[in-house]
Amino acid sequence: MAVLKLTQMTDLHLGPTPDFKCRSLETFKSLQTVLDTISADGRSDYRLLLTGDIASDGQPEAYQLVDQLLSSKGKQMLWLPGNHDRMDLMQQTLKNFPYIPLYETEHWAILMLNSSIADQPGGAMSNSEMQQLEKHLSNFPHKNILVAMHHSPVEVGSDWVDQHRIANHRQLHQLLASHGKVRAVINGHIHQSHEADWDGIPVYATPSTCFQFKPNSVDFALDDLPPAYRWIDLYSDGKIDTGVKYLHAFSANK
Ligand SMILES: [Fe+2]
Repeated sequence: MAVLKLTQMTDLHLGPTPDFKCRSLETFKSLQTVLDTISADGRSDYRLLLTGDIASDGQPEAYQLVDQLLSSKGKQMLWLPGNHDRMDLMQQTLKNFPYIPLYETEHWAILMLNSSIADQPGGAMSNSEMQQLEKHLSNFPHKNILVAMHHSPVEVGSDWVDQHRIANHRQLHQLLASHGKVRAVINGHIHQSHEADWDGIPVYATPSTCFQFKPNSVDFALDDLPPAYRWIDLYSDGKIDTGVKYLHAFSANK
């Protein structure tokens, strides 16, 4: 059976220079180590999905760093913005990777949604984004659908993070469920691994390529888990295999 293999990296939090630190971690170095691990795991040829917060504060140089790094490695990549990103600067600066909201294969359509609102940490789907989503879903009634977004459409058990849940999640769920072949949602933002059943739609959240948040925290708290990525295998019959790979040998001080 044909398998579409993807790799999700999320919440890179890069800065203007390679030695930039975010929460005392060199985020460009940890991204490079994640990419090296993906190669060592035999997944270097598979398309990358970057699900937001590529920059730590919308710096154009952060997007240039990603553009140069991934194009020099010959990567294929789809991306969407997070709350720390600037969509306009991403579109200007990611010269080798234009924004592709819909990626289509023989059996699957992958939708890269923008759940970010300017100057707000929380997520919501704008009217125009909902309209475009509705159009895409109606254009592909027979394809399996994978939906990617930055924010979580479900609660994850941390009060401070759950305030960022997609505000119009009920409306979004109604639209996605009406299609009948939305096989999963993948997201970032919560810097931890989390799986949920969103009233019939599986939701997979993925840890960051740099620092992680402590699960089940009332207030902001960091975890001591290392960088990670998610592997995703999409089968032609709609089945999904996925899992998270942590870089347990990673040392921030190497
Ligand atoms: Fe975020």
